[in-house]
Amino acid sequence: MPATWTKSDWRNKPRIQMPEYTDLVALKCVEDKLATYPPLVFAGEARSLKRQLAEVAAGRAFLLQGGDCAESFEEFSADLIRDTFKVMLQMAVVLTFGAKKPVVKIGRVAGQFAKPRSADTETIDGVELPSFRGDIINDFAFTPESRIPNPDRMLEAYTQSAASLNLLRAFSQGGFADIKRIHQWTLESTMDGEGYEEYHELANRISESLTFIESAGAGDAESMRRVNFYTSHEALLLEYEQALCRTDSTTDLPIAGSGHLLWIGDRTRQLDGAHVEFCRGVQNPIGMKCGPTIEPDDLLRLIDRLNPENEAGRMTLIARFGQGNVEKHLPALIRAVEREGKTVVWSCDPMHGNTIKSNSGYKTRPFERILGEVREFFAVHKAEGTYAGGVHFEMTGKDVTECTGGTRAVADGDLHDRYHTSCDPRLNATQSLELAFLVAKELEKSAEA
Ligand code: PEP
Ligand code: CO
Repeated sequence: MPATWTKSDWRNKPRIQMPEYTDLVALKCVEDKLATYPPLVFAGEARSLKRQLAEVAAGRAFLLQGGDCAESFEEFSADLIRDTFKVMLQMAVVLTFGAKKPVVKIGRVAGQFAKPRSADTETIDGVELPSFRGDIINDFAFTPESRIPNPDRMLEAYTQSAASLNLLRAFSQGGFADIKRIHQWTLESTMDGEGYEEYHELANRISESLTFIESAGAGDAESMRRVNFYTSHEALLLEYEQALCRTDSTTDLPIAGSGHLLWIGDRTRQLDGAHVEFCRGVQNPIGMKCGPTIEPDDLLRLIDRLNPENEAGRMTLIARFGQGNVEKHLPALIRAVEREGKTVVWSCDPMHGNTIKSNSGYKTRPFERILGEVREFFAVHKAEGTYAGGVHFEMTGKDVTECTGGTRAVADGDLHDRYHTSCDPRLNATQSLELAFLVAKELEKSAEA
């Protein structure tokens, strides 16, 4: 931890992509309130995630990070959390089989509310209003009042995050995630999709092996009944992050209490900016998006700032270049990191570089491009002799039509049918599972090499 860091130092740095609240008294009142609330996650948990990410960095585990682009107040229900959790469990099983390694599971959940935007304003039918910046900041409705940043929304985001986490803890520890229930994680909406048969076969094989292990009196039954499931979000709204920052009583060091892993977005990773300043001081594992504009020297300076001790598990670099661009950008970054002996997890976000506007006018991501970027990511790591450590997806257990393609082909003309995202297009359950199988094949290939 930098000796002189305090949790409010970011306020002296240039801030971008954050709202300018107009009612400063109301803002202060919310910040003070949040500062007295219990943290959502605990330091010991963040440390345990860091240890698991250190295993990923060492090539002994694989990372699966996924969830909504933006959580929403309106689309909040136990069923939705359960269904996305089920899909993540299924994907993790598939990936474990491919990687022959433990899979570290992190949701984009219980805090993933604030969104960076490419434009400050949005114009519809000649009316220009401030952009929607996520439910923790303003309201999606296209009216001048709705788009005013309202600090009270932080309290609602906190409450929703606490409720989500409560449910996720129950699901992951209370028997739902028991590997014996592997068949029950299947969602009805996936039953006519490509991955379904394959999953079913895999689940049968796993069930048979479990029966065998049990009848032989072997196996650690207890550890198979639970999973560790961690939370993450982009640390964008720093008033919220600061208010939930606590001192870890075991180490006396600052820890973000809003989620286990925080990441810095591609738009807010300026070396001397507010976001890097906040994140460098907290002990949590930190992710950083790396898009086409990052240069190897910038990356090294950022790593030095965020992880001066080169602690394993601290830094996860999330590459998001877009299909066709990985080869152009990633090798130089990998070489710089290797040359300087930095320990990082390399993860692939094949979503954010592949967003296009469809003919029907919806923002979408073609499945083939998503898969293409994952393949390029694996190929580059293979060529460089480094470890492709994880994947980062925007996905949901809901049967949406937001990304085109996949075997149960969602066509351009279908997008309007169930287009529910409040931000970027997500993979639906069928597409997620299908993608997990394709990633598992890449993992098998790289293990053979
Ligand atoms: C996101 O993960 O939703 C996001 C905005 O990503 P990026 O910072 O990579 O654009
Ligand atoms: Co997104």
